[in-house]
Amino acid sequence: MKLPSLAFFFTVAVLCSAKEGYSREESLDTHDYQVDLSPSDVLEDELKNNGSLRARALKKKEWSFKGKKGDDMTSSSSSKGECGVDYCEAKQISLGGMKTCLKEHFDHLSNLYFPEDGDDYSFARHTAYSILRYPAAIVYVEDVEEVQHALKCAVDNGYKVSARGGNHSYQGIATMDGYVVIDMGRTCKPDEFVVDKTDQGPHILEGSKYIGTIKAQAGCTNAIMLAAGYEHFGEDAGMTLIGSCPSVGITGFILGGGAGDISPYVGYGVDIVKEFELVLYDGTVVKASEDENSDLYWASRGGGGGNGIVTHLTYKIVQAPKQKYEEEKGRKFTLLFLHMFIKDVDKAAKRIQEWFYDADPLITGKFGGGFSWSTGPFSDPRVDSILVYLGSWREAVEDLQATGLLDGEIFDVFPMPLRGHGDVILSENYEVLCTSDKPCPQFEDGMPPRPPPLFEDDLPPMPLRGHGDAILSEDYEVLCTPDKPCPSSAYEFNSYAEVELQNICVGSLFHDWLFSGSHNSGDFCKDLGIADDECKDDVQKGLPVRKPKLCNKVVIDAMMEKAADPSSFMNSHGPSLELVDLVRKSWPGAENATMSEFLQFISEDLTKGLSGASMWPRLDDNLFAEILQNHPEASNHLQHGAALKVDPDATAYPWRNAAFQVEYVSDEEANSFLELLVKEGVPAQGYYAYLNPPGMKKWRSYFFDNKWKELAKIRAKYDPKDVFGKPLTIESLGE
Ligand SMILES: Cc1cc2nc3c(=O)[nH]c(=O)nc-3n(C[C@H](O)[C@H](O)[C@H](O)COP(=O)(O)OP(=O)(O)OC[C@H]3O[C@@H](n4cnc5c(N)ncnc54)[C@H](O)[C@@H]3O)c2cc1C
Ligand SMILES: *[C@@H]1O[C@H](CO)[C@@H](O)[C@H](O)[C@H]1NC(C)=O
Ligand SMILES: *[C@@H]1O[C@H](CO)[C@@H](O)[C@H](O)[C@H]1NC(C)=O
Ligand SMILES: *[C@@H]1O[C@H](CO)[C@@H](O)[C@H](O)[C@H]1NC(C)=O
Repeated sequence: MKLPSLAFFFTVAVLCSAKEGYSREESLDTHDYQVDLSPSDVLEDELKNNGSLRARALKKKEWSFKGKKGDDMTSSSSSKGECGVDYCEAKQISLGGMKTCLKEHFDHLSNLYFPEDGDDYSFARHTAYSILRYPAAIVYVEDVEEVQHALKCAVDNGYKVSARGGNHSYQGIATMDGYVVIDMGRTCKPDEFVVDKTDQGPHILEGSKYIGTIKAQAGCTNAIMLAAGYEHFGEDAGMTLIGSCPSVGITGFILGGGAGDISPYVGYGVDIVKEFELVLYDGTVVKASEDENSDLYWASRGGGGGNGIVTHLTYKIVQAPKQKYEEEKGRKFTLLFLHMFIKDVDKAAKRIQEWFYDADPLITGKFGGGFSWSTGPFSDPRVDSILVYLGSWREAVEDLQATGLLDGEIFDVFPMPLRGHGDVILSENYEVLCTSDKPCPQFEDGMPPRPPPLFEDDLPPMPLRGHGDAILSEDYEVLCTPDKPCPSSAYEFNSYAEVELQNICVGSLFHDWLFSGSHNSGDFCKDLGIADDECKDDVQKGLPVRKPKLCNKVVIDAMMEKAADPSSFMNSHGPSLELVDLVRKSWPGAENATMSEFLQFISEDLTKGLSGASMWPRLDDNLFAEILQNHPEASNHLQHGAALKVDPDATAYPWRNAAFQVEYVSDEEANSFLELLVKEGVPAQGYYAYLNPPGMKKWRSYFFDNKWKELAKIRAKYDPKDVFGKPLTIESLGE
């Protein structure tokens, strides 16, 4: 199915007069949380229009909002005088003036692109998920001064501006139709990071602390921060929170919340940023922190942005918790695959929610990551988790036991042999069946009878002993006995960066060349710079690719090196243009398509299924039991523990009541879940970083609760001319 909702951007992209367009109260109504799926004729018009930007930019009437019932901004009748400022009243939108101004400061075709630049322009506007956007200009800036120049050229000539970071917005809203896009990617210079090891202090959970800060440029990615945290604070078990995709930009991530595997211990991304630096619409450089412009600091922490262009962020580096069995240095981090059947679904629902909301956060906060539940016609409901645990494997099991998650009356936790690839394979009775020296017994289908392997096709084979210390060994007898069930498998590492890279390696990075997580060439081994004997051939989407055989130390080390390099394949969205060209030439029926058309085709493919995520608060146990049994779902990033301990008013990010972040794979699924929840009286709470398609009437309160009103006032203060306004960004609104 087509995702027509993107077409709404063409009506609202240059919106100036939204003030009348929405009520100051947004009340709860199931229907209002539904995404509008009706096909739109606007997209068709746009296609016929040949994307002719200039025609539209110069026609003043095109700059006003075409009200359409059920539209994102609802109906607005007024078309002039509503800006309250002279910006929208600019006599003439002057493309010439803007262009001349930009050309004076930036090198055309090396860091400056206009619609007339053909393929160069197409490449520059093509981002992970933006379809058919036609910015008036795209400028690649390197520093604060260049941000100021670009802004001035745009604002003086009546243009709106959008900053672009890692290009990962689900709705592609960094690249806006008719705007001057300021791409921040080239500002990222890890050599110029400011590392301060003297700035230390307590963090959210009792006893937790940050052990220093790193000031980074806004155009950096999550992987850069992971690598920088490792380089400067790895020995002291310092961590920088990242999400699941290395190439996600840090600024969009933080402005939308920022959820990752260590959120239960360190909180959201917004909870680790100590200070922002921004350039405001008029070129002023400001800081935003607890002490300076604290309203802007508050708004930048999860309010979705729109107040200025962020140029720097200062991150707190939080130290992993102390461990029972280890020295303070040389801590362990474990990637834990936990699989269990649910024997008693009512008790399980209660126990699971108690675990997330009532148990000691100093224990549960050490477990973060993904949690999914499913059921099948022939099996009991089951829960499958891939968890990053801040401690050793041995402690993980003890902690799970102490908090009731391995209760044999409720759950049937099973050891899952690693499909014959590990050094050690355990039987169901936890005896060692085989090791690398001792051949495995032959089972009928090559495996013990149950459970059915998860992700059989997706998961690369993994050596049991990865590259941390040994994990499962006969020495760990305490973990795997019949009355102390043994979780399925685990990998121990000596740093947070390694465990995170292992998760990314076994997760998504090499599974699909088209996946926007890496700018790959189709030969991941070449991209990684690893030797041929570490690699194997594969076929993905009909295209031969090369990828690593295993997620072993060689691969993780190579990933670490690439993570640290802003120009590497790991730090921008993919696939590479060479690869796209190759695919285009071999794609049936696409041989005559232009690169631009083919890029659009790929973007459309990628955009399918980006239907946002909602934050589930504690549910009634019966409702949760019903969901566990009948509605398979997954929470991508568990957000219990520290993420919930922050005062809900401390940041613009509102959902300090919800441990589960459930991402939907289709609009229909999103709608049916929201309907189910809202009908049961559960508030509909949206996660802004996983932006829904426009079309939802109550998007302001869905994403920001009642904080959107405060956000609107703050925008009016810092962006009075609405230079940064765009769809799904809270409007600039005075008292
Ligand atoms: C594959 C994938 C995986 C993801 N995984 C996670 C995850 O694990 N956890 C999570 O929380 N989120 C995740 N996200 C969501 C991600 O955090 C958001 O999409 C985020 O907005 C991306 O930021 P960006 O800079 O890459 O995107 P962009 O598209 O470049 O920008 C996103 C928004 O931020 C604004 N912006 C960017 N830079 C600046 C700046 N310097 N100043 C002002 N505004 C700016 C843009 O204008 C735009 O509105 C994921 C997204 C993808 C596509
Ligand atoms: C569409 O764009 C192409 C290339 O820019 C141009 O040659 C053609 O005339 C345009 N067609 C219309 C209908 O504007
Ligand atoms: C964002 O996308 C543009 C266009 O493809 C690209 O030039 C730029 O390098 C990207 N930025 C990052 C950080 O990937
Ligand atoms: C591509 O162009 C060639 C030459 O004009 C034509 O014969 C062929 O049918 C075209 N293919 C498609 C899929 O349109």
